[in-house]
Amino acid sequence: MSSDALTSHLTESRRFEPSAEFRERARVSSREQYEALYRESLDDPSAFWARETRDLVWRTEATAVMTGKPPRADWFHGASLNVSESCVDRHLTSGARHRAAIIWEGEPEAGGRPVETRTLTYGELHREVVALAGALRALGVEKGDRVILYMGMVPEAAIAMLACARVGAVHGVVFGGFAVEALRDRINDCGAKVVITQDGAFRRGNVVPMKATVDRALEEAKSVEKVIVFPRLGPAHAPISLHPGRDLLWSDALALDPKAGAAPEIVDASHPLFILYTSGSTGKPKGVLHTAAGFLAGAHVSTRYVFDLRDGDLFWCTADVGWVTGHSYVVYGPLSNGATVMMYEGAPNAPDPGRFWRIIERHGVSVLYTAPTAIRAFMRWGEQHPRACDLSSLRLLGSVGEPINPEAWVWYHTVIGGGRCPIVDTWWQTETGSIMMVTLPGATFAKPGSTGLPFFGVVPEVWRADGTPAAPNEGGKLVLTRPYPSMLRTIWGDDARYQQAYFSEFSDTYFTGDGARRDEDGYFWVLGRIDDVLNIAGHRVGTAEIESAVVGHPAVAECAAVGRPDELKGQALVVFVTLKLGQEAGPAMREAILEQVSRDIGKFARPDEVRFADALPKTRSGKIMRRFLKDIAAGRAATGDASTLEDLSVLAKLQAAEE
Ligand code: WTA
Repeated sequence: MSSDALTSHLTESRRFEPSAEFRERARVSSREQYEALYRESLDDPSAFWARETRDLVWRTEATAVMTGKPPRADWFHGASLNVSESCVDRHLTSGARHRAAIIWEGEPEAGGRPVETRTLTYGELHREVVALAGALRALGVEKGDRVILYMGMVPEAAIAMLACARVGAVHGVVFGGFAVEALRDRINDCGAKVVITQDGAFRRGNVVPMKATVDRALEEAKSVEKVIVFPRLGPAHAPISLHPGRDLLWSDALALDPKAGAAPEIVDASHPLFILYTSGSTGKPKGVLHTAAGFLAGAHVSTRYVFDLRDGDLFWCTADVGWVTGHSYVVYGPLSNGATVMMYEGAPNAPDPGRFWRIIERHGVSVLYTAPTAIRAFMRWGEQHPRACDLSSLRLLGSVGEPINPEAWVWYHTVIGGGRCPIVDTWWQTETGSIMMVTLPGATFAKPGSTGLPFFGVVPEVWRADGTPAAPNEGGKLVLTRPYPSMLRTIWGDDARYQQAYFSEFSDTYFTGDGARRDEDGYFWVLGRIDDVLNIAGHRVGTAEIESAVVGHPAVAECAAVGRPDELKGQALVVFVTLKLGQEAGPAMREAILEQVSRDIGKFARPDEVRFADALPKTRSGKIMRRFLKDIAAGRAATGDASTLEDLSVLAKLQAAEE
């Protein structure tokens, strides 16, 4: 870890109070009220969680709310449930049957209007989930079986997740931007029995083929028995080729046994709900495992408080279902609360940079939850786009995925929020399942760039390397010292790695991998990752994963991937490459390397820069010294202790190459 990772250079003293009007109607409307609930959540977690999750559907009640200690903490012991009942069935009898659960827009637009929109009421969502659950059962999917979802942003992705939950199967959503090999590895890692996909998706005016990618992945993934294909593209596109005996169209699957899904599989609280692969500091992605009751409790309670949900809201989390934010805040959190979710298929600038704002105006979105990288792109595209639309339906804004720079925060507040909408900057991770830090919107002031205070039940702390607490404003390692319902329970198939990755830095305490400081008001400032994970445009990318893709190219001898600061994406990905003898560096080689990453991982992970070098700076024991490469990538003079460097001239050459 380089020491500068833990030094915060940001001094931001502005404070933004919620308006009196927002505060008056908010669920939590003062710092005192927040403190009281927070205290209760720590002093009496059983009472807190029992009360806050009372509206969920429990088939049997928990006998103990919190048991064990991390890494083996468990929640809602003795309870049984089916998550889909809480997200769907319960709204059929509460008067919300005809309320919209999902309002969807496809990407293509003509004359400033979407070519396709769909609205699914809770009643319709229920019918679809039951029918797909019936199909899964008819195809032999049983409790505990894994189902991979390789889908874009269509309502069927949510339906598929809920149908898996309904039959007690474990879903693993693979982001639609992942390429063949990444998809294949994930299918193989969890031994999926069924894949649910679509023919293709519309993205930035292009068609992204998805079924063809699945076909190729399955050439080397033999656990899969059946593939269900949702036809998204329509008759103007290539006919869908179905592998006889293996593949079925969505409609044929749903007709298999439409009633067989009616009765949900009742599972224990700690039955696995899903696996979601995320980057760690080795080349192999981690299959983060979440469990039914704990995950649902975290997503449910946080959605209600953080987004201050109320009747009539239209809640738009712009994240893709392929990432954790899409799991918790497009699907499980809002639906378990009976909210109406906005879902949009495509890119924010398709067909032009005004798209998001037209969606907000058209449907009357009231809560918008997006990422800093998107906000910075909107800033760059210019405020004329949001200004052209009526955004007065918005009442609350959210940010997630990476630290938001104060300039972007203030722009978001002024231009998008019209100065009247509080901003919730939410810190959390794939592993935590739901929001861990946030300033509740009506409770107290926000500071631009700070993720604020701990959410209920969460105890974040900043520790020095020796495990002692850091002083106020002193940078250190961010840990979570208490168990929490929605924390991951293990890494699929690799429990040793689970313990190693999260509980070895400090024994029995969850280490987040982030650096942070806490200021004199108790507000947290996240400084970014301090392990070998990059945060590029809000997506976690493991440097080791990129490196293993790059060295997969036959001409490459060695490679090191590092991040450098980037105005738009937060971090940009730079790879330093040394070639095998006799190989020629140049534009063709650069292209081949980019292609290699696109093919192995996906286009979204393509490096921003490839730099060829004769050698990489190494220690005498052969370890690549990344901190020098980071300096060079950022255009800084490589400073710091070079005494362990094996060959000083390597550094000089790398620097010279830059000038
Ligand atoms: C970073 C996304 C600062 C952090 C939900 C974390 C943030 C990683 C914030 C997890 C935020 C997420 N401010 N940094 N509000 N939110 N991060 O697993 O480094 O894709 O560890 O989960 O994103 O990324 P992941």
